[in-house]
Amino acid sequence: MSDAVWYHLNLCARGDVDDTVADAAIAVRDGRIAWLGAFAALPHEFASLPRHDLGGAWVTPGLVDCHTHLVYGGQRADEFAQRLAGASYEDIARAGGGIVSTVRATRAASEEDLLRQSAPRLEALLAEGVTAVEIKSGYGLDLDGERKMLRVARRLGERYPVAVHTTFLGAHALPPEFFGRSDDYISEVCDRMLPTLADEGLIDAVDVFCENIGFSLAQSERVFEAASRRGLPLKMHAEQLSNGGGARLAARWGALSADHLEWLDEEGVMAMRAAGTVAVLLPGAYYFIRETRVPPLDLLRRHGVPVALSTDSNPGTSPTTSLLLMLNMACTLFRMTVGEALAGVTRHAAQALGESRRHGCLEIGRDADFAVWGIDTLAELAYWSGRPLCRRVVRHGETVFLR
Ligand code: NIG
Ligand code: FE
Repeated sequence: MSDAVWYHLNLCARGDVDDTVADAAIAVRDGRIAWLGAFAALPHEFASLPRHDLGGAWVTPGLVDCHTHLVYGGQRADEFAQRLAGASYEDIARAGGGIVSTVRATRAASEEDLLRQSAPRLEALLAEGVTAVEIKSGYGLDLDGERKMLRVARRLGERYPVAVHTTFLGAHALPPEFFGRSDDYISEVCDRMLPTLADEGLIDAVDVFCENIGFSLAQSERVFEAASRRGLPLKMHAEQLSNGGGARLAARWGALSADHLEWLDEEGVMAMRAAGTVAVLLPGAYYFIRETRVPPLDLLRRHGVPVALSTDSNPGTSPTTSLLLMLNMACTLFRMTVGEALAGVTRHAAQALGESRRHGCLEIGRDADFAVWGIDTLAELAYWSGRPLCRRVVRHGETVFLR
């Protein structure tokens, strides 16, 4: 079936710009990589397989978008206009808009409708070489609504050739019916929603929005405790709008990642380093809410914290479906290097999902999931914006997207 040798390509197998092979080949058997390296060294046993000439294109691992909220109903262009007129993201949230307005639209949508609205967003990611994506809940904020979102996420993973990892983000915002009773809502999240949805096999990881307009450290810790009891990996939206110490808490609980981090301090960086917690940076949200404080990249570098990049695709702070644009923004706005940015959407993003052994790197024995790029140098992945660079996506050895 998919057994073949892909050749006449430049290989960047580990998402490392300093580790490439010119005129390379990849041999695929049963959907997995059987061999890869310089074409001239192709072992004899693969000589008889069908061959695909990639015309000198670059090949990277399929990209990993490790933080998205791409399942939701409606859009929030009206709030964008309000913000342009001077309101802040926090102002709008406190006035009953923001996340809660998407909650209304998401609750009102049927499962089919939600699937229909969300699918084009996943298609756009796939067309840019993404073969693994994380999708969070968090716009249902009740058992039925969260279940509906997570079911849609699972169905997207069945319908499209993309590995979908689901994250339960019941603690994303306070639903209106719990107004003034946030501790009670956290009890609902921990005692009912999380265990029920975990039993239904809908949760791969658990996230919490730790922030003044989200949930406190103590409430976040309750969510972590409930998730840990179930053996579920942890993530946190931390230090996005203020320095609340969320990243330290996330590290203390051994979270896979802490995400956003514009307000992260050195203590938080050191705690993340010690715990092996990945820093997921989200330049699309930084850009769209017109944040001016950049995440502390020098500290992250100095302490050797792995940095991932993601779209944060969502209707309120990052209405984008372009992971390549995030590379561009990470370089221009955060001053990341091209090498850092590419690592951020391959091996570091896989690590942020707890899937380092499955995604973000091409090696013998792994799934043959790779992206083929119409570029002359890898730097072009971060250089262009709005240009369709991805020529082909291969998943399990089969071409699943072709331009
Ligand atoms: O990652 N900060 C919290 N959650 C999202 C925004 C969600 C929304 O505004 O709808 C984020 O930025
Ligand atoms: Fe987010």
